[in-house]
Amino acid sequence: MSKIRAKITSLGRYVPGRVMTNADLAKLVDTSDEWIRTRTGISERHVVEKGTPTSDLAVAAAREALERRGVAASEVDLIIVATVTPDMVFPATACIVEDKLGATRAWGFDISAACSGFLYALTMGAQFIETGAHKKVLVIGADVMTSILDYTDRTTCVLFGDGAGAVLLEPSEDGHGILDFYHEVDGSGRSHLHMPAGGSAMPVSHETVEQRLHYVRQDGSQVFKYAVRKFVDASRTVLQRNDFTPEDVDCFVAHQANARIIDSARERLGLPEEKVVKNIHRYGNTTAATIPLALGTALDEKRIKDGDLVLLASVGAGFTVGAVLARWSAFGW
Ligand SMILES: CC(C)(COP(=O)(O)OP(=O)(O)OC[C@H]1O[C@@H](n2cnc3c(N)ncnc32)[C@H](O)[C@@H]1OP(=O)(O)O)[C@@H](O)C(=O)NCCC(=O)NCCS
Repeated sequence: MSKIRAKITSLGRYVPGRVMTNADLAKLVDTSDEWIRTRTGISERHVVEKGTPTSDLAVAAAREALERRGVAASEVDLIIVATVTPDMVFPATACIVEDKLGATRAWGFDISAACSGFLYALTMGAQFIETGAHKKVLVIGADVMTSILDYTDRTTCVLFGDGAGAVLLEPSEDGHGILDFYHEVDGSGRSHLHMPAGGSAMPVSHETVEQRLHYVRQDGSQVFKYAVRKFVDASRTVLQRNDFTPEDVDCFVAHQANARIIDSARERLGLPEEKVVKNIHRYGNTTAATIPLALGTALDEKRIKDGDLVLLASVGAGFTVGAVLARWSAFGW
C-alpha cells in the first residue's frame, strides 16, 4: 500500500486593518525609516487594536481557509495553533479557536516554537493525515506580537507585526503534498530571544513589570548569525536526503524575520531572486504567521503552480529550526 501523503488544500490569511509605518515608530523611539528599511527590509506592519486576542486573528484566517475549500467548521478533525502569544497561559488558544469557529468535532492544541511554530505545526498536522487518523487538519500560525513588545526598546519593537495564516491539510489524491520535514532545537540559544517573565521560572510580579521583563528580549546579532546558518543547513539537509539540489526548488518560502537574512540564505543556497518570496516590507515579522502569509503572497503573485517543488524554512526562538519540502498541488485561488 502506498503511503498516504498530506497536502495543503486551502489557505486563509488575516492581518488587522491598522497599519503602523516606520515613521509612526520614529515618533515612539529613536529610530528612522531609513534605519529600519536598510537593516530589516520592513516598511510597515499591521497591528491590532489593543486587547485583540490572537484567537480572533486565528479564527479569521481559518474561516477564510475553510470557506475557500467549501469545508464546514464541523468537518474539521484537529486544530493546531502555533503561537507565542496565546490568548492566555491556559486554556490553549486552539480550544478558544475551536469554540469561536464552531469546529465541534475537532480536538486541538497549541505549539510553542516561536518563528518555527508554523512549520512545526505543519509537520505535526501532516503526521495525523499520513497515519490515516484524520482527514481534515487546520494548521494555524497566529501571533499578536504587539502584546509582548516593549515600545521603549528600539532594537525589538520595530521588527514585529501582528497577523495570522491558516492552511487546511487533507489526504492527497494526486501524490503531491508534503514530501519531508527536518527540524532541530538548540536550547542552549534560548536566552538570545525570549520573554523572561510570565512563566513558572519568573511569575509576574510588580518587580517583573517594573523591569519590563514581560516583553521580548533579543540579542539581534546572535539570532541573525544563527538564522542565516540554519536556514541554509536545514534546507540543504531536507533537499539532499530527497535527492534534490537547490536548483530543483521552484519556490523558496522562508520565515520573514529580516530581508537580509533571507537574501543571505538565498545567496548561499544559490537560488535566483525570482524563486524567493518576500513580503516582510508589508508585515514585518509576524512570528508564527509569516510562512502562511508568504505562501499567500506567492499565490497572489502566481509564483507557485501545480507540481512545483516548494521549500519552506524557518528559524526561531529556542532556537527552533524547520524545513519542509512539498510538491505543490494547486487549489482555487
Ligand atoms: C535586530 C537587527 C535588525 C539589528 O541589526 P544589526 O545590523 O545587527 O544592528 P546592531 O544590533 O549591530 O545594532 C547596530 C546599531 O544600531 C542601533 N539600533 C538598533 N536598533 C535600532 C533602531 N530600531 N533604530 C536605530 N538604531 C538602532 C543599535 O543600538 C546599534 O547602535 P550602537 O552601534 O551605537 O550600539 C538584526 O540583528 C536582526 O535582524 N537580527 C535577527 C532578528 C530576528 O530575525 N529575530 C527574529 C528571530 S526569527
